[in-house]
Amino acid sequence: MIVTTAQLFKHAYGKYAVGAYNINNAEQAMGLFQGCIDSQAPFIIQISKGARKYTDKRMLEAIIRSAAEIYPEAIFAVHLDHGDEQTCYDCIDSGFFSSVMIDASHDPFEENVAITKRVVDRAHAKGLSVEAELGMLGGVEEDIKVDEGNACLTDPAEAEEFVKQTGCDSLACAIGTSHGAFKFKGRQSLHFDVLEQIKSRLPQFPLVMHGSSSVPQDEVARINSAGGSIQDSMGVDPNEYLPAAKLGVTKVNIDTDGRLVWTRVHREFFRDNPEQFDFRPPGKIFMAEYAKFIASRNDFLGSSGQL
Ligand code: G3H
Ligand code: 13P
Ligand code: ZN
Repeated sequence: MIVTTAQLFKHAYGKYAVGAYNINNAEQAMGLFQGCIDSQAPFIIQISKGARKYTDKRMLEAIIRSAAEIYPEAIFAVHLDHGDEQTCYDCIDSGFFSSVMIDASHDPFEENVAITKRVVDRAHAKGLSVEAELGMLGGVEEDIKVDEGNACLTDPAEAEEFVKQTGCDSLACAIGTSHGAFKFKGRQSLHFDVLEQIKSRLPQFPLVMHGSSSVPQDEVARINSAGGSIQDSMGVDPNEYLPAAKLGVTKVNIDTDGRLVWTRVHREFFRDNPEQFDFRPPGKIFMAEYAKFIASRNDFLGSSGQL
């Protein structure tokens, strides 16, 4: 059943974090639903602009509605990931989304406030909630690449002011993570000090952590020994999800890890079965492996057993 993101946040706040997983196709959707049912976890399905282009937004909606019929026990929200203003309006008007993210974090503060406020007004009029972003993560997200030198952590005082001025419902904060598979050089820990300061200025306000994939090193090793070449990868320690949740992080975004599972399964399958060209056998393996992976992340997030 599709519920509002606000409902999920209310139940989770301060206790556990809700996993927000990106999907692009039916196989990811089926693995995601199965994994969340197996672990009895509520979840958020995220759709990026790239996913809406890749699969077609109508197809994605049909996939999600069908998955909800196949798994009637599933409790989830549908969310636009990293939207620009126009894409937010398209999703708000579609009647399908529970919430949207307006990402104007690359604009100056005042501009970010103005854009976010416009989206909040339109979304609230239709009962959707809005995630905004302040601060800048490093890494690659669709067409934007931010190198480490330009990434900047969220300023707690600015965060308080931003929420007051925009009326947004949740805030994505930069606390040391970045998008993709190459998150840290050396240090591998979240900036809990910054998170604590943000929480003390915004008590009871849901915070969001992007770039939260854990980039399991055994997964990367298997990819590389099956012909891949992913060097110097590093992810977030998943043991830090729950301490972050206790400090107000209510939504944890995970996408890259799912791509790694897909890559490992397909590389190994075609390496071991060079005569094969049917995509369904590895597709089946992927769905089962992705379900297992999702359930394990929900355990780290504390969302397992919360249905
Ligand atoms: O933050 C970015 C997400 O991982 C979505 O990636 O824009 O390539 O679909 P994408
Ligand atoms: P990862 O690249 O760490 O999976 O982050 C995904 C994300 O933040 C989606 O918005
Ligand atoms: Zn993100």
